[in-house]
Amino acid sequence: MTDRTVDRLNGITPSALDLIGNTPLIALDRLWKGPGRLLAKCEFLNPTGSLKDRSSLFMITKARESGKLNDGDPVIEVTSGNQGGGIACVTAVLGHPFTVAMSKGNSPQRAIMMKALGANCILTDQVNGKPGNVTADDVAAAEEAAMKVKDEIGAYYVDQFNNQTNWLAHYEMTGPEIWRQTAGKIDAFLIGCGTGGCFVGTSKFLKEKNSNIKCFVVEPEGCQPIEGCTITKPLHLLQGSGYGCVPTLFKPELYDGTMAVSDEDAVKYRKLLGQKEGLYCGYTTGANIAAAIKLLQSGKLPKDAVVVTILCDSGLKYPE
Ligand SMILES: Cc1ncc(COP(=O)(O)O)c(C=O)c1O
Repeated sequence: MTDRTVDRLNGITPSALDLIGNTPLIALDRLWKGPGRLLAKCEFLNPTGSLKDRSSLFMITKARESGKLNDGDPVIEVTSGNQGGGIACVTAVLGHPFTVAMSKGNSPQRAIMMKALGANCILTDQVNGKPGNVTADDVAAAEEAAMKVKDEIGAYYVDQFNNQTNWLAHYEMTGPEIWRQTAGKIDAFLIGCGTGGCFVGTSKFLKEKNSNIKCFVVEPEGCQPIEGCTITKPLHLLQGSGYGCVPTLFKPELYDGTMAVSDEDAVKYRKLLGQKEGLYCGYTTGANIAAAIKLLQSGKLPKDAVVVTILCDSGLKYPE
């Protein structure tokens, strides 16, 4: 028996990578008393406090398995913070130097965490957003900075927006976990889209199990490109999602509709989650809950419907 097998038998976790995924599914019965039930995946319990740890694990380990990334090779990525934090965790454990570019409009807490995990952080000035409101142009500026450094240091570019192993993480982990934890009793799933990885991977798995499950995207009010609307409000609080364009990874055949959420409702439900459920999460989580409740009230689902959404990240990642 290897030392690692003995460790596992003794209940010792071999590394932070083994803390990724298998998050609890919590019933928000105090926040939503019915009809129907609202359940949520506790993604803030991943090691760097967000759902993006899953895709970070997949994108790096699959690149290693395919030979695109070898032991000790440098890695580079563009992030709004959560993906960078996740990759910083994975590269720290696997021994890859990591450089990350991020717009200064994202919360400074995220840069502090990435640096603490050994990442070299390049912070770029905002183009047309403002602190807490990051636009597609702000992300493009961070991407440009990363591309300059990429060639200089010969780094492997993770490229979350185009990397197919991003959504695969949710197809192989998040979807199966939700299916198992609900024993297949789920009527609808919903989440916002950044890269679209979580929506696509989770929805694809769930619809393959039961094609009657409805999958909705949460979009910021006035910034609903997936719904096909003209963008009237590109600045919003839902950092990490709602970049104002349909993500490359998006698969329209999985999409049953958009639930639009205002900043005010995201703030309101983020607060209620803390006060009624004792859970401190970020703004997109508030938006997901607002959207889930709107859906439960909409009459679009059966009366006893079970709706599952995602508690995307920890509230500690945001300045108040
Ligand atoms: C904080 C945060 N990051 C990222 C995402 C998006 O994840 P993905 O890139 O898988 O679409 C979300 C979705 O709502 C989010 O809330």
